[in-house]
Amino acid sequence: MEALAHQPVMADQVMELMQPKAGGAYVDCTLGAGGHAQRMLELSAPDGRLLGVDRDPAALAMAARRLAPFSDRCTFVHGRFSDLPRLMEQVGWQQADGVLADLGVSSMQFDQAERGFSFQAGPLDMRMDSSAGPSLAELLDTMAEKELALALRRFGEVRGAKKLAHRILEAHRGGALTDTAELAKLVPGLRRPGKTHPATQVFMALRILVNQELDELESMLRRLPEPLAVGGRVVFIAFHSLEDRLVKRRLVDLEGPCICPPGLPTCGCNRKISMRRLTKRAVMPDEDEIRSNPRSRSARLRAAERVAEEISDGR
Ligand SMILES: C[S@@+](CC[C@H](N)C(=O)[O-])C[C@H]1O[C@@H](n2cnc3c(N)ncnc32)[C@H](O)[C@@H]1O
Repeated sequence: MEALAHQPVMADQVMELMQPKAGGAYVDCTLGAGGHAQRMLELSAPDGRLLGVDRDPAALAMAARRLAPFSDRCTFVHGRFSDLPRLMEQVGWQQADGVLADLGVSSMQFDQAERGFSFQAGPLDMRMDSSAGPSLAELLDTMAEKELALALRRFGEVRGAKKLAHRILEAHRGGALTDTAELAKLVPGLRRPGKTHPATQVFMALRILVNQELDELESMLRRLPEPLAVGGRVVFIAFHSLEDRLVKRRLVDLEGPCICPPGLPTCGCNRKISMRRLTKRAVMPDEDEIRSNPRSRSARLRAAERVAEEISDGR
């Protein structure tokens, strides 16, 4: 499956914002196939260090092979980024000069039918880490129709979510939902060559549900700026508007946390600024990249830098 290379999205923009340097310590907490990580290692030669984290053991193994030429500067850890400060501590890392979170699934996960992310016949699984948590089939065993409809609507803006949830659970309980190809067939809509498959949003919503992707992101954002050294930079690439909104809100909050009513002569809340945004608006891929890697189309990049501690917001 090595041939199914994942093209790192907006790699130039990530490197420009993160500015990897010799002697620096960088965390890629969504290591995937290691494309971004490789660039970070090249730019931080000869002695920059990389900590690569992924919840998918198969991704870690693949990235380790790709990054073998830099193995003396790499540490790999299996885990979730919601747990980043503890994972860093576990391998003796204190704070990083750069942290990257390139969210969602990788092309390798998506393209391997046996992982259950695609419309080709595969198991009802969809776990990025198949050693942890319930698979899609196990979730469907116990899920109420209302709950499933809510997830389809919230994570995929699926129209007719209530009806579809009923259909999915009926098929599952009746034993007809044997694989992901059968699941895709339950979604109404025209299948036209070259057009987006009508089940795309449904599969995305179920994947987000199975992997608790928004909870993961919220937990990681809550811990900011803890994993970063002063001057350290964090870069996020989101492919879902809900994720991008969470990132944006948290970065705005960390930059201007004062909650005093406007017009007060002095700040009474004493909340401190801990990060400065490096992107006021989300950065998007250019047309060339979208042409060569259509998957990058929905990417939204945001970045921020940890500032010296104890800066008040100046009122
Ligand atoms: C979009 S891919 C990253 C691709 C990578 N930047 C590259 O250049 O190849 C996302 C990766 O993040 C991993 N991932 C997603 N959510 C995670 C989480 N909460 N904790 C750790 N890894 C996660 C996935 O398993 C997947 O391998």
